[in-house]
Amino acid sequence: MIDFLVNGIQRRFERDPQTPLLWYLRDEVGLMGTRFGCGAGLCGCCTVHVGKDAVRSCVTPLASLNGASVTTIEGLGAKGLHPLQVAWIEHAVPQCGYCQSGQIMQAAALLASKPQPTDADIDDAMAGNLCRCGTYPRIRAAIKQAASGKKPDAAGKATPAATEAKARP
Ligand code: FES
Ligand code: FES
Repeated sequence: MIDFLVNGIQRRFERDPQTPLLWYLRDEVGLMGTRFGCGAGLCGCCTVHVGKDAVRSCVTPLASLNGASVTTIEGLGAKGLHPLQVAWIEHAVPQCGYCQSGQIMQAAALLASKPQPTDADIDDAMAGNLCRCGTYPRIRAAIKQAASGKKPDAAGKATPAATEAKARP
């Protein structure tokens, strides 16, 4: 018997403890925002949080989660859009979109541990999250914007949100 939280809701699982978290999230709970890619911990598109850590849900057995708190992309923005989700929209990051929930969850774990990451920090943290559409430049720009707390101007450069608000009629 495995008891854990998913997006703040208490869950219990009583079958095969080696069931991967990804299967449970999609097939049992119906949380389809977490994606299946490689199924082997190699692409990052199934990334969720266990506690504060970004983990690959395709290779995380439920047996390892007793007492844990899991957050998926659906839970990240449950209280309003996360700053990364805002930045993702403003930078129009996704192309096909398939990898993007994993990218955001990985980036959210980075900002939770390093609110002001360097370019090297971003590269290190995001290196295991693959995007076949090559959205990497926009992903990096969105992470930097979310970390800065600023909004982009028309040219895509970050400007203080307060300045933009002041300019509005
Ligand atoms: S599907 Fe989990 S890392 Fe690729
Ligand atoms: S947006 Fe298509 S795989 Fe990343």
